[in-house]
Amino acid sequence: MTPRQPSAQATAWNAGLYDSKHSFVWERGADLIELLKPAFGERILDLGCGTGHLTANIAESGAHVVGIDSSPEMIREAREHYPAIEFRIADARDFSFEEPFDAAFSNAALHWIKEAERVVQCLGKALKPGGRFVAELGGKGNVRELVNAFRRSLETMGYEKDPNPWYFPSVAEYSSLLERYGLEMTFAVLFNRPTLLEDGSNGMRNWINMFAASFLASVPPARNEEFIQNVEHLLRPRLFQDGRWIADYKRLRVIARKSFA
Ligand code: BEZ
Repeated sequence: MTPRQPSAQATAWNAGLYDSKHSFVWERGADLIELLKPAFGERILDLGCGTGHLTANIAESGAHVVGIDSSPEMIREAREHYPAIEFRIADARDFSFEEPFDAAFSNAALHWIKEAERVVQCLGKALKPGGRFVAELGGKGNVRELVNAFRRSLETMGYEKDPNPWYFPSVAEYSSLLERYGLEMTFAVLFNRPTLLEDGSNGMRNWINMFAASFLASVPPARNEEFIQNVEHLLRPRLFQDGRWIADYKRLRVIARKSFA
């Protein structure tokens, strides 16, 4: 799932790698649809739909679903897989629709957008009064071990800037942001979700290549391998078990409702 700030990452997405080695991103989101409870005839927005698998699951309810994502490659893949569903390339910080939605859904996308206020502002306008918003994103403390290892590796290698591209809010922070734009949080949970990275001992390097491009781009290409090895070295004692990497994911799940006032 991929709306995010324009950056090196924006061009680095590989929809094939995303689907083959990181399918857990959308597979884990399937039970979020149970919280959404899509109904026949509803108009639903999937914000940051990626390759469209969850959009298609939602559409099985008979709802009219529109998937948006900022990555042309992801949208191309989504259209190829699901030609009957409406997909659009759109920036989650700057979108609008003529016709409002009964509900909006988002899985593992909103943590890519640091300008969260702009997203929620668009969302507030896109929903009908009483419309619901159901989302999961990385929450406060998400991938903390990884981020610390990235920072330490950069420091050790002599690079000081912090290219962290992620927004991982607390419950309180997100609740107050939603409220500012007329959305009342009715449910929230922040929970640990240790996540197995596929492909055995390659799991961490695959993850870094797919998701942490902004950190990798902070060192010259000739030193990328050194950066990855430093990170693996730092993380191995805590996150490598029985030949497999486990990332310290922490998720925030929310349900909110747009007020009638
Ligand atoms: C996440 O799904 O929590 C996540 C994905 C990529 C980078 C950081 C976090």
